[in-house]
Amino acid sequence: MKHEMPKLSYPIDGLKPRISEDTMKFHYGKHLQAYTDNLNKLIKGTEFEDKSLEEIVRTANGAIYNNAAQVWNHTFFFETLSPTAKPISGTLKAKLIATYGSIDNFKKQLMAKAMGLFGSGWIWLTYNERNQLNIEAMANAGNPLQKNMTPLMTIDVWEHAYYLDYQNRRADFCEAVWELTNWQLVEQRMEKNLFNIYY
Ligand code: FE2
Repeated sequence: MKHEMPKLSYPIDGLKPRISEDTMKFHYGKHLQAYTDNLNKLIKGTEFEDKSLEEIVRTANGAIYNNAAQVWNHTFFFETLSPTAKPISGTLKAKLIATYGSIDNFKKQLMAKAMGLFGSGWIWLTYNERNQLNIEAMANAGNPLQKNMTPLMTIDVWEHAYYLDYQNRRADFCEAVWELTNWQLVEQRMEKNLFNIYY
């Protein structure tokens, strides 16, 4: 099965000025394209050739895992961003306040994890089978599916995600991702997980 590039739900310059068209041309157009091409090359003639991307992420290791997870992570990251503001509300807001005391405190903890991750990786807001929210920092191509957690949102903290726009200012990029995140979609993912558990 050939893995295809995901389509963006907004124009390539749709996230500017927080994320520039130049960054998107490299991040989406070059980096994600390279992970997709590498994955397709690596799985040829292996047991993973006909497996779905999610199955590969859950079960592979080494180079196949790294490229598959980077395809999955970037697809999820770009899908979670929105050119128009979709602020935190509803059941997500209630759950975040119940877990972290306030939205401000949740944001502080999310940013602290993002700043604390040494080197490249991903920051995840996850949901587990006990309906608990967690913030996880995962190095390199880390992905919560391997730990049986449901990913709700993510911040790509690889330098390639922010260097053109923000140089070494990772915190400013994380702030931009916070503003661009489609929190309504995050809420829907959380509710879908609840649905799966109760039915
Ligand atoms: Fe990236």
